[in-house]
Amino acid sequence: MRKKLAAGNWKMNGLKADLHEVAALIAAHPTPKCDVLLCPPATLLAAMSMTAAGRIAVGGQDCHMAASGAHTGDVSAQMLADAGAHYVILGHSERRADHGESDEIVLAKAQAAQAADLTAVICVGETEGERDAGATLEIIGRQLAGSTPEGATGANTVIAYEPVWAIGTGRTPTLEQIAEVHDFLRARLIERFGAEGETIRLLYGGSVKPSNATEIFAVSNVDGALVGGASLKASDFGAIIAAL
Ligand code: G3P
Repeated sequence: MRKKLAAGNWKMNGLKADLHEVAALIAAHPTPKCDVLLCPPATLLAAMSMTAAGRIAVGGQDCHMAASGAHTGDVSAQMLADAGAHYVILGHSERRADHGESDEIVLAKAQAAQAADLTAVICVGETEGERDAGATLEIIGRQLAGSTPEGATGANTVIAYEPVWAIGTGRTPTLEQIAEVHDFLRARLIERFGAEGETIRLLYGGSVKPSNATEIFAVSNVDGALVGGASLKASDFGAIIAAL
């Protein structure tokens, strides 16, 4: 049985003054039924980890593929772990678009995450043009195969399906469209990793909010959510956690 996961991606938002939201979230949901993860910007990781005090997990939003070295401005997987992270989001569409991250780069980063004992949350998702062209499953299949390392397990890997056109737009796919992609991802994972593929959690991401969380979480092979905007406030994220 896969334990559900509510993951929040704060993206480039959040200052120390916002950590009270984390304290409020923990106070309001002292014993959540699901795993809870918040991924703040790297600058807040250590402080959030202190606030979380092991009650919820924290994670990074990216890491470098190398363990250390001459890479000004970058952060390694080991550094994230050192700051208290247990997870790292990789291959988010904003990084694929803003930083030209290919499947090969995401794969190398996921291998670095594995080596540092971080769970990689690997993101895949089609653009609106790709969906309109009927290429959704082809694109997602290619991203999944190209970005997921050998040795992926339910413990070291989570896959997040985030349709690019649903991110921050208030638009979501139909429940049938979500089910189609998640069932496809599950089948591909089992094809490649055998029984272990059953244990890898599949998150849906893209305009998840308290008002649509319950119906999305009931969809086949949806094991939780990767939430952007609605993870910033304890009240919204708490309502999503309660829906899982
Ligand atoms: O990684 C989460 C994300 O891209 C979804 O963002 O704001 O649509 O929930 P949002």
